[in-house]
Amino acid sequence: MAGTWDELVQQIKERLDIVDVVSQEVVLKKKGNNYWGLCPFHKDKNPSFCVTPHLGIYKCFSCGEAGDTLKFIMKTRNIEFKDLIIELAEKFGLEVPQSHKSASGSSRELKEQMATATMVAAEFYHDLLIRAKDSNADIALKYLTKRGIGTDIIKKFHIGIAPKTYTTLYDELRKDFSNDVLEKSGLIMKSERGGYIDRFRNRVIIPIQNENGEFVAFGARALEKDQTPKYLNSSDSLIYNKSRLLYGLYTAKDAIKENDSVILMEGYFDVISSQAHGIENCVASCGTSLTAEHVKLLSRYTKSRRIYLSFDTDSAGQKATARGAAVIKDVFAGLGDIRQFDESYVASDKDKYACEIRVIAPPEGKDPDEFVRSVGADAYKMYMENAPLFIDFQLENILREKDKYNTPQEKAQYVKQIIPVLSEIKNRIIRSEYIDMVAQTLNINAGAIRTEMRVFERANLPQAERIIKNVTKSSSVLQKAQKNLLSVFLVPDSPLTFTQINEMIGDVTFDDQILTNVKTTIDKLICSVNNVKELIEHLYTEFVENPEAQAILPELIATSEVYKGLNEEDFGSVIKETINKINHCRHVKETEHIKSLYKGIKDDDPEALKIQIQLRDKIKKIRQKSEKF
Ligand code: CTP
Ligand code: MN
Repeated sequence: MAGTWDELVQQIKERLDIVDVVSQEVVLKKKGNNYWGLCPFHKDKNPSFCVTPHLGIYKCFSCGEAGDTLKFIMKTRNIEFKDLIIELAEKFGLEVPQSHKSASGSSRELKEQMATATMVAAEFYHDLLIRAKDSNADIALKYLTKRGIGTDIIKKFHIGIAPKTYTTLYDELRKDFSNDVLEKSGLIMKSERGGYIDRFRNRVIIPIQNENGEFVAFGARALEKDQTPKYLNSSDSLIYNKSRLLYGLYTAKDAIKENDSVILMEGYFDVISSQAHGIENCVASCGTSLTAEHVKLLSRYTKSRRIYLSFDTDSAGQKATARGAAVIKDVFAGLGDIRQFDESYVASDKDKYACEIRVIAPPEGKDPDEFVRSVGADAYKMYMENAPLFIDFQLENILREKDKYNTPQEKAQYVKQIIPVLSEIKNRIIRSEYIDMVAQTLNINAGAIRTEMRVFERANLPQAERIIKNVTKSSSVLQKAQKNLLSVFLVPDSPLTFTQINEMIGDVTFDDQILTNVKTTIDKLICSVNNVKELIEHLYTEFVENPEAQAILPELIATSEVYKGLNEEDFGSVIKETINKINHCRHVKETEHIKSLYKGIKDDDPEALKIQIQLRDKIKKIRQKSEKF
């Protein structure tokens, strides 16, 4: 029996895990009770996006976007509430009340039919091959045998054959599917003469499964030498988005979890051969280069986020490696260090690193497919175990060319290629070791490299930007401290009364309109409420028409949980420290602001000197004041 719409919404909420849902869009890292990542709703450079699992909410501390799991899906997928509930009800096998069933099911139905048609097509092509039903099947089987692909592998990957003829698949599928469904699924296309013909002909068919094992698209390899293109791929469709799907993930995901690492390859056959030879934690993109979405997808399966890049060793492959590493670094930016060296002594502290990038590049050349077949899977695994970190791979590649650079001018030019690589090493000791190594290899002065690095780094982080960064940083720290101060009112079973707390806080003011509003409302409410629970309830009611203020309440409540169980003395110290922090942050913020004015003055301004002196005095005063704290 279907319940009410509200009951349905509730049941769905209970089945959704906010960390799971958000992880599909954002790489999250656990810190305490919360998870943090880069906000998907604005261009975020440092992780300001926070997910609080026990409250089922998310919030960006930078752009302010906040809500629950359903709102997150609605925003990221741009889907209406009602459509989303109906879609999820179907996914969870829940019944939708008659009153809410609507025509909006049509797009879902279309998607379902497309997925079914794609699955039937995959079965059909596969059947033609294994039962040698098509005249081409023999040629295809021979071709696959030559590539080391026997019946078992053909079955595991559902490999098939598309006949040479024009309408074999169409004739089979038109009985059960409309032209519209078949065309939208990319299985048939309009012919010049007006009818429909099969899109894939005379090709080995590699069906592409999504994460859940559903067939959604095809990669199709030419059977003949002069047939172009070598690979014909399905275009994106309602059920296939190649920048969000990785070939082989469905069959690799258990191994990725088990090994806590994943190997990224370039081609379908690289994945097929490797998985068939027992290297199971590998995937490839489908005829596109690696995207941020791909990396996010993978990060859900490996905790330590160890990613091996195993591309061709030719120059195109090297470019793909560099590009791939750049995409990976971008996705993890701000979530902690990228592993840049082999720091075995902190191996237990896995959380220290946002990710680890290694490169598998056997000197024999060859792509992984050819390598595992001709040299062997064991040798591949050995290269994997000894795979250099991306930084070592990069440096080795650059230093390999060292004999080409001999004159001082050539060497200086050469060092310019190396400096950006070295400057990514954050650990000063490791960095210094690398600089010495490079200096020795190139027979140049290490001090000179260090100087050039400083020049490079300064040029790449302009002063103005640094100051702006500090200003926003200190103002967000300030805001955080002010929120912490408000949250002390909401501590369950607090050892201090509302009045005692208010006495301690005294005349501390809040910089932000919303926070000021919350504080005034708390002041008003504590005269009439009996306990924290009532205070929270009344706050929610007071802010019914003020969604911005309401949105920060969960955050305050979450913070207050942290203070729970403190005795009176400790709780008092926490409040005092928070007030000190607020005062200190205010001074830092003021100083940074003045500094930015200072830097903004042009030297050709006749008033410049006067203003600069005034500003300097101001900074001095603030500093003296702040030393008191
Ligand atoms: N690719 C593509 N279209 C092409 C060529 C390549 O989409 N015309 C994609 C395919 O996904 C292919 C991958 O790029 O799997 C790697 O291409 P390439 O290195 O050229 O092919 P291999 O995988 O080595 O293919 P094969 O071993 O079959 O020659
Ligand atoms: Mn190949």
